[in-house]
Amino acid sequence: MAARRVGILTAGGDSPGLNAAIRGFGKAAIGTHGFEVVGFRDGFRGLAENRKTRLDKRSLAGILTVGGTILGTSRDKPSKMLVDGEVRDVTGQILEVCRKERLEGLVCLGGGGTAKNALRLARAGLNVLTLPKTIDNDVAGTDATFGFATALEVATEAIDRLHSTAHSHHRIIVAEVMGHRAGWLTLGAGLAGGADVILIPEIPYSVTSIAAAIRDRVKKGTNFSIVAVAEGARNADDARALHAAETRLDRTKEPTARDAIKAEITLLEMQHEGNTLRLAQQLEQLTGLESRVTILGYVQRGGTPSPIDRLLATRLGTAAADFVAAGTWGVMVAAQGDGIAAVPLEVVAGRRNTVPPDHGWVRAARDVGTCLGD
Ligand code: F6P
Repeated sequence: MAARRVGILTAGGDSPGLNAAIRGFGKAAIGTHGFEVVGFRDGFRGLAENRKTRLDKRSLAGILTVGGTILGTSRDKPSKMLVDGEVRDVTGQILEVCRKERLEGLVCLGGGGTAKNALRLARAGLNVLTLPKTIDNDVAGTDATFGFATALEVATEAIDRLHSTAHSHHRIIVAEVMGHRAGWLTLGAGLAGGADVILIPEIPYSVTSIAAAIRDRVKKGTNFSIVAVAEGARNADDARALHAAETRLDRTKEPTARDAIKAEITLLEMQHEGNTLRLAQQLEQLTGLESRVTILGYVQRGGTPSPIDRLLATRLGTAAADFVAAGTWGVMVAAQGDGIAAVPLEVVAGRRNTVPPDHGWVRAARDVGTCLGD
């Protein structure tokens, strides 16, 4: 009898723990459940092009601690893929590859965008299952995403290191932290690293409030400050403009009108570029303290996963193999408490897990006297 076969790919931005999850899934699928596992390269693009590699004991060995993804990744979407200079829907092509490869289904390791793409494929008739990875921790329906714990360590260490130089030079250092439109990474690293100001997308800021808090520190004898700013944090005016455009997009069904609003949002995002530099300049002017910027960038995503991420990725990966063997599809394999849950993709796709304004981390930050910019 032919072996049961399943496919796996990684999509979206890479994240520490992807290889640990591939390994956990592959070892359990092959060793425990007797599957053949086919890996597809570079996300949905490699799947559409049937660029594959057989995953076996040998290829799964030695990757637990390795950063990135052995499969490669891309941000390509099945419904809108640029092929030969044209945007095409390659869903049919993907279904055909999976049929030809005799796959029972496809396991997609990714964040919120991947869940959306997976749901579209599920609606087109493919058996799909996702695993939540991202350093942003913004996937709905799961307590945790692998990659976050590692990025939190990296960002915290950076803030620790910035402290001594800011202190020595009596400077403001503005450290930009990743996280897309969620503030988990900045808030977590800011709290753990003792940042004096923490700015997150969920709490629009006022530059004058931040400057007042920094001047207040100077008055009390502390003439340096560390500002941890999320890449998606905005001042109140910019946040209002973005929110208004997004609300209109949610309420608009007509495709041409939607395209116009999407263009408006893209413009607002482009105008946001360089925000951290502008913020540092404004703080320098308003406080009289010399200011410097450190953009942490991709170091937060690279390198070896932390033990917590390895553990989470292994738990989720092995559990995914159990779901595949049992024929449970159309779900994200989520971490809930100490356990694992199968959360329907409909619940995950199109939702973002952001920091609630009354979250315990926010309260803790206020309690230790951190300025949140509001
Ligand atoms: O989703 C992870 C993430 O690193 C975000 O924090 C960041 O906004 C984005 O990816 C960067 O994307 P790219 O890798 O496409 O530059």
